[in-house]
Amino acid sequence: MGGRSAEREISLMSGKSVLAALRAMGVDAHAFDPAERELTELKREGYERCFIALHGRGGEDGTVQGALEVLGLPYTGSGVMGSAIGMDKWRSKMIWIANGLPTPRYRILGPREDWKAIAADLGLPLIVKPANEGSTLGLTRVTSVSQLPEAYELAARKYRDIALAEQFIDGPEYTASIVGDEALPLIRIEAPQGNYDYQNKYFTNDTKYHCPSGLEPAEEERLKALALRAFHLLGCNGWGRVDLMLDAQRQPWLLEANTSPGMTDHSLVPMAARARGISFEQLVVRILEAAHVA
Ligand SMILES: Nc1ncnc2c1ncn2[C@@H]1O[C@H](COP(=O)(O)OP(=O)(O)O)[C@@H](O)[C@H]1O
Ligand SMILES: [Mg+2]
Repeated sequence: MGGRSAEREISLMSGKSVLAALRAMGVDAHAFDPAERELTELKREGYERCFIALHGRGGEDGTVQGALEVLGLPYTGSGVMGSAIGMDKWRSKMIWIANGLPTPRYRILGPREDWKAIAADLGLPLIVKPANEGSTLGLTRVTSVSQLPEAYELAARKYRDIALAEQFIDGPEYTASIVGDEALPLIRIEAPQGNYDYQNKYFTNDTKYHCPSGLEPAEEERLKALALRAFHLLGCNGWGRVDLMLDAQRQPWLLEANTSPGMTDHSLVPMAARARGISFEQLVVRILEAAHVA
């Protein structure tokens, strides 16, 4: 838990909840923050396996996973490749598009774009976001051409990242939680003014989460199957979450996969698990039991 990413704060909250749950289930579990200690100490101290509660770069992107592979220590969630691809929204989209899965149309932005042409191509509003950041950091909902350069600067420079401009999807938002080979009940996310940002994700009580989602059973099953396929196509496994939206025609659009999503007891995967009759403690143990090395 912890780590050095922009999502350190959230990771510490996830780690604290996971640690408490593991201990409640009788696991001899201890906190370990790779920002403070060398990973090799894990081996020296005789740990049998790792529950990865890191989010973002360095923890969710395959690097820690690779280090644990080298140490021969089983870890939870996706392996090196699935983690790396899942972290990268651009490459995730390329894989989905190549396989005929729906994801919003996009353009990669450079510093000297014809901003008008981008807006004409994708329509307004549009979304600009960094390809490798999470938690809605660096994301802008752009409503006029004049906002585009600043949105690009934020995504590309502040977060030192590839900036992605994406067609705006105007529909309800859902997230599919995945544990093992099962997609759990979908959650519909209703943010104030449709603004599901960092603040509304973690620090306000204004976002409403609906689980069960209210979808017709057949539509729910169709979206769950899509999410599962999208997750596996990226090489992700173990557990995670796929974010998607519906447009006015109720067509689904895949936004991204998360390979190490939030794990506080009001996070989304635990919420979906509860709707399926799985307690937070049971969920944590189930994820830990599936820990592996490649
Ligand atoms: N193309 C889009 N159209 C409409 N809303 C979007 C779009 N992309 C992202 N969003 C909104 O921004 C949030 C964060 O985007 P997402 O792609 O899931 O990245 P992350 O969660 O890693 O920051 C989404 O949950 C959604 O509310
Ligand atoms: Mg997301």
